[in-house]
Amino acid sequence: MTAMDAVLRTDIPGLPEPRRGKVRDVYDLGDCLLIVSTDRLSAFDVVMENGVPGKGIILNQLSLFWFERLSAIANHHIITGDDRAIANRMGADHKALHGRAILAKKAEPLKIECVARGYLTGSLYKEYLASDGLVHGFQLEPGLLDGSPLPEPIFTPATKAEEGHDQNVSIRQAEEIEDEQTVRHASDLTLRLFRAAASHVTGAGLILADTKFEFGHTDDGLLWIDEALTPDSSRYWEADQWRPGIARPGFDKQFVRDYLEESGWDKQPPGPRLPDSVIQGTLERYIEAYARITGLPSPVTGIPA
Ligand SMILES: Nc1ncnc2c1ncn2[C@@H]1O[C@H](COP(=O)(O)OP(=O)(O)OP(=O)(O)O)[C@@H](O)[C@H]1O
Ligand SMILES: [Mg+2]
Repeated sequence: MTAMDAVLRTDIPGLPEPRRGKVRDVYDLGDCLLIVSTDRLSAFDVVMENGVPGKGIILNQLSLFWFERLSAIANHHIITGDDRAIANRMGADHKALHGRAILAKKAEPLKIECVARGYLTGSLYKEYLASDGLVHGFQLEPGLLDGSPLPEPIFTPATKAEEGHDQNVSIRQAEEIEDEQTVRHASDLTLRLFRAAASHVTGAGLILADTKFEFGHTDDGLLWIDEALTPDSSRYWEADQWRPGIARPGFDKQFVRDYLEESGWDKQPPGPRLPDSVIQGTLERYIEAYARITGLPSPVTGIPA
């Protein structure tokens, strides 16, 4: 039924076994990394049994768009996302990589995830309710709703949990994990990238509610690594349907999460198999997000019904 099969894992002949994250296969090529975005789908930090065909291509192409577009603000890790250049470097053209691979500069990832938020939602909203409005050292006014805008975007770092869910931490805790100067620099880059991206998507009728960036140490200072402003790492909302206090249709994985919440799954691995309708709906959202944000035709077409 699918136009293409989901690429759930890659095994490139002649290369050592990659490090497999929830979504990406990362091959160490010595002087650089080959990072492949697969079609794996994770929700509640668990990878689902089946994937979303072409999702990895959309994620990779959207990241490439943002890294390039915001390159004046932060140095990024991309060496190339060009399939021919990648084939040249590898000495072989692997079709399975087309559209979904990059060569990237190696960095040592910070042990904190750098989150920027412009709206009160998700774990921050829970924090707000539980702490009389004090979130990450910012005292917010009472009576805000899930989805209310914050007076200004804030930096809310989180730990990278080896297992389980990331934990929000204070700036001070972040400075114990990384040093003060690193945290200040990462915070500055995070907020500048966030503001520029949020302003760009306004023109497409979208709201960027929050996003997560990763940075890494290199000999040349901090480098913006991993993925850039994808629906996996960001909450995008439809501007004309946004109202605080009501559910907002988004382009993120809320659709999948809603299905899973209702399915009765206990959120423990292994992840269940998602029905075709959920896979299809998810792909459509990723395609729409790509087209709206970039103004370009999607690199992937949908699954024929
Ligand atoms: N330029 C880079 N240098 C070093 N590591 C990188 C770079 N870019 C991305 N990474 C790392 O590669 C991995 C990408 O894989 P993926 O996004 O699937 O992982 P994840 O499931 O989010 O995280 P993890 O498996 O580390 O918990 C992440 O661990 C990320 O920190
Ligand atoms: Mg990741």
